[in-house]
Amino acid sequence: MKILITGASSGIGEALSKEYATKENKLYLLARREDRLKKLQDELIPLAKSVHIIVCDVANFEYLQQKMRELEDVDMVILNAGISLGHSLEITPFMEFKRLYDVNVLSNHAILEILLPKFLEKRSGKIVFISSLASLFSMPSSKVYSSSKRALNAYAEGLRYKYEPMGIKVVNILPGFIKSELTDKNKFYMPFLLDTISGAKIIKRAIDRDKKFYPFPTRFYTLIVIFKMLPSFLKQKVIKLMFR
Ligand SMILES: NC(=O)c1ccc[n+]([C@@H]2O[C@H](COP(=O)([O-])OP(=O)(O)OC[C@H]3O[C@@H](n4cnc5c(N)ncnc54)[C@H](OP(=O)(O)O)[C@@H]3O)[C@@H](O)[C@H]2O)c1
Repeated sequence: MKILITGASSGIGEALSKEYATKENKLYLLARREDRLKKLQDELIPLAKSVHIIVCDVANFEYLQQKMRELEDVDMVILNAGISLGHSLEITPFMEFKRLYDVNVLSNHAILEILLPKFLEKRSGKIVFISSLASLFSMPSSKVYSSSKRALNAYAEGLRYKYEPMGIKVVNILPGFIKSELTDKNKFYMPFLLDTISGAKIIKRAIDRDKKFYPFPTRFYTLIVIFKMLPSFLKQKVIKLMFR
């Protein structure tokens, strides 16, 4: 299988690249940090059919689309590249908000605008979104990140209805906390935090099983579902306690 993984230079993307590094798979690993990608490439070459790196800022849409046009047909794309803005209660500066949406949301469509017609031509292909449990509830300190991931959920759902009957699979993964550079910045307690390898293994299993909507860990997801069922005033009380 030919697999494109964005955000492959660290964290979940790097761990997923290792999970998919088998003799059946050709890997295309995309991120900005060339040194990290080259190191990973060297490590995975003996394990995979082939490993190619694409050094690219996904927010540079023109260059990204050029790279996608140059790419040979892939069978699966894992849209994993993403950023958070940390956890501030201040008003988000507009350009930071825009940057986050460029990376977390718009870059995915920039990629799919090029790859989807190729998938449609062969009537096969798998699109994997790495959303987040944070898409299901929005905290005062992470509203921009949460909203970007909720946008992904809506986009993934619509894509699925449209393209599933045409042979294209759409998988949406909603992880809780997984150890990575992104979560290393968090100063607060992260419930049910998973190590990177365990997180990647769970994600791979869900991808391989074509899970359409896959929130995990289940215990964290259940708590979120319960929280969302509370009346507004109680939710507000819980949030007040958390952000005292
Ligand atoms: N860790 C968690 O708890 C968690 C939970 C739910 C969802 N997620 C999602 O999982 C995905 C991976 O995050 P992670 O936790 O593994 O964090 P990470 O270690 O910070 O990885 C982020 C990856 O995205 C790449 N990236 C960021 N900005 C980019 C840009 N402009 N152009 C190209 N690549 C870019 C980074 O590579 P370069 O810096 O080299 O470009 C890196 O490879 C994100 O979408 C995140 O929102 C994470």
